[in-house]
Amino acid sequence: MDKNRVASITSDLIDAVRDVCIKHAVTHTEYRAAIDFVSRAIDAGERSLLFDAFLEANVVASDPTKITGTTSQVLGPFYLPDMPFLKDGVMARENELGERLRVSGKVLNCRSEPVGGVELDFWQADASGRYSHFDGGATPDKNLRGRIASDETGDFFLETVKPAQYTIPDQGPTGLLLREMGRHSWRPAHLHVIARHSDYSTLTTQIYFEGDEYLESDAVRAASTDLAFPLNYDGDQAILSFNLVLQDIDSTS
Ligand code: BEZ
Ligand code: FE
Repeated sequence: MDKNRVASITSDLIDAVRDVCIKHAVTHTEYRAAIDFVSRAIDAGERSLLFDAFLEANVVASDPTKITGTTSQVLGPFYLPDMPFLKDGVMARENELGERLRVSGKVLNCRSEPVGGVELDFWQADASGRYSHFDGGATPDKNLRGRIASDETGDFFLETVKPAQYTIPDQGPTGLLLREMGRHSWRPAHLHVIARHSDYSTLTTQIYFEGDEYLESDAVRAASTDLAFPLNYDGDQAILSFNLVLQDIDSTS
């Protein structure tokens, strides 16, 4: 990171903290308690959870390089890289519990042209709200994670199960702080996806379901209603359709 940016961001941050200390007459005991709190969260393995829950949405929302295209969302603490490429877009095991869901759409650029060959890296919670690898081994390795690609007409298809709404891990320091702030720990149901293509800016986003009761009170203050899509049915088959719009790398409009 550029040295001048380190200097200017850090000094503005210190000034902002000083303003908060003055506004609330923060005591030395409270200052020490805050340091202990952050240390406890890190010791409890919540470093990413704590910062992603309270700060990441601010950084995403203020990104000056994000000008157009599908709204970005937080990556969060549950992403794993290098997940398998899925055969025929099937991400859910045959015996995966939950409502089977067909996800489809198109990847477009900002001129509404289809973009083929886009890598779409999906991950999600299961129907009980658990993320594989972060659930103490309750679900199989790499469960409900995987990559697909858009075809030459920009179309993509994924077969999965509907993710549940879930509480972010709330039995440790992060959950305690949320409760002390009078906030709940629920997130609306969502699919995470990162869209990658060498000609476009990488898009990290989340797709929500229209009407979800936690869209307006997301624990991590990330959810955006423009990313909420209706769950439709073809007979018994649940279907979710949305397009992803990529921003050019050198986008100025
Ligand atoms: C998530 O969407 O998985 C997430 C984001 C921020 C904090 C916790 C979870
Ligand atoms: Fe999530």
